[in-house]
Amino acid sequence: MKHFLKETDFTPAEVAETFALARKLKTERGQRAGEVLRHQTWALIFSKSSTRTRVSFEVGIHELGGNPLFLNKNDIQLGRGESVEDTAKVLSRFVHGLIVRTYEHAEVERLAAAGTVPVINALTDFLHPCQIYTDAFTMAERWAGPAAGGAELLASLKGRKIAFLGDTACNMANSWVLGANLFGMKISLAGPKGFEPTAEFQALLAKEGFAGGYEFTTDPMRAVKDADVVYTDVWVSMGKEEEKRERLALMAPYTVSAEVFAAAKPDALFMHCLPAHPGEEVQRAVLDNPRSIIFDQAENRLHTQKAIMSILAAANRRG
Ligand code: CP
Ligand code: NVA
Repeated sequence: MKHFLKETDFTPAEVAETFALARKLKTERGQRAGEVLRHQTWALIFSKSSTRTRVSFEVGIHELGGNPLFLNKNDIQLGRGESVEDTAKVLSRFVHGLIVRTYEHAEVERLAAAGTVPVINALTDFLHPCQIYTDAFTMAERWAGPAAGGAELLASLKGRKIAFLGDTACNMANSWVLGANLFGMKISLAGPKGFEPTAEFQALLAKEGFAGGYEFTTDPMRAVKDADVVYTDVWVSMGKEEEKRERLALMAPYTVSAEVFAAAKPDALFMHCLPAHPGEEVQRAVLDNPRSIIFDQAENRLHTQKAIMSILAAANRRG
C-alpha cells in the first residue's frame, strides 16, 4: 500500500508527475466532472484546527468525484481511547483513504501500518508534506514558465536557495529541509540557539541519505543572502501554546522585516504556509509585497493534493 506520510514517500519521478497533474487539474478546473475517486469516500481525521488543509481536501475529494467525510478526533471513539490500530482497521472497511492531522508523527505511521487504505499526512508535529509539495509547485510555476511539463517544473527548483527563518525546529522547517534535499535545492535555517533540527529529524535525514543537507545559523542576514525564497511560519505551532511567551522573546530577532526581505535576491519570493501573525514572524509590509505569493500557495493546496490523491489511488489500484 502506497502512503504519503513524508516528502520522500514519492520518488523524483512521482514528484514530477504530481506537478504535471497539479498543473493540468488547475487548468481544467470546473471543465469536467471528476472520475478518479468516483464511488469512493475519503475520511479526514483531524485532532487540530485547520482552514486550508481541511477545505482544500474536502473540495478536492468532491471535485475528483468522491465523498469527503470529516471526523473530528473527539467525535469518534479514537478520542475516548479506542486504539489507533483498531480505528485504522475499522475505517479501512468503510473508506478508501485516510487524511490525518495529529500531534505525534507515529500516529500516522501506525494508522498506515494497521489499515488497508492509503494514508495522507495532513500535518503532524514533525512534518507537513502536503504543504511542501504545494509550495514547491508554486515556486516552480513562477520559475519554469507556462508551457513547462512536470520534469521541467521539478528541474526549475534545482540549485535554488530557500531561507527559512524563525522556528527552525518546527514541522515546516523539518519538511522544508527534507523537501529541499529531495528537489535539489539549498536550504539555510536561521533561528535561535536551541532550535536546531532535532536528533530525531537528523536521524530521518541520515536514513534518507541527506545527512547534513542544510545550513543552520543564528544570523538571519546570513541565511537570506542569495536566497531565491524567504520562508517563515508561526513561532507558536499548534500544541506549543504554553511556550508562547518564551518563544516570542527568543524569536523576535527573526521577524521577516522589509529590511531582511530586501537582503535576499532582488527577485526573491516571500512565502508563508499561513496562518500568519503579522508583527511576529513577518511584517505586514512583506505579506503585502508584490513578491509575496502566500495566496497562490493557499490556492495550490487544492490542485496539488488532488494530484497526490490521484497518484495514490492509481498506485494502489495497480497494487
Ligand atoms: N497551512 C495550513 O496547513 O493551514 P491550515 O492549518 O489552515 O490547514
Ligand atoms: N507550524 C504550524 C503550521 C500550521 C500550518 C503548526 O504546526 O501549527
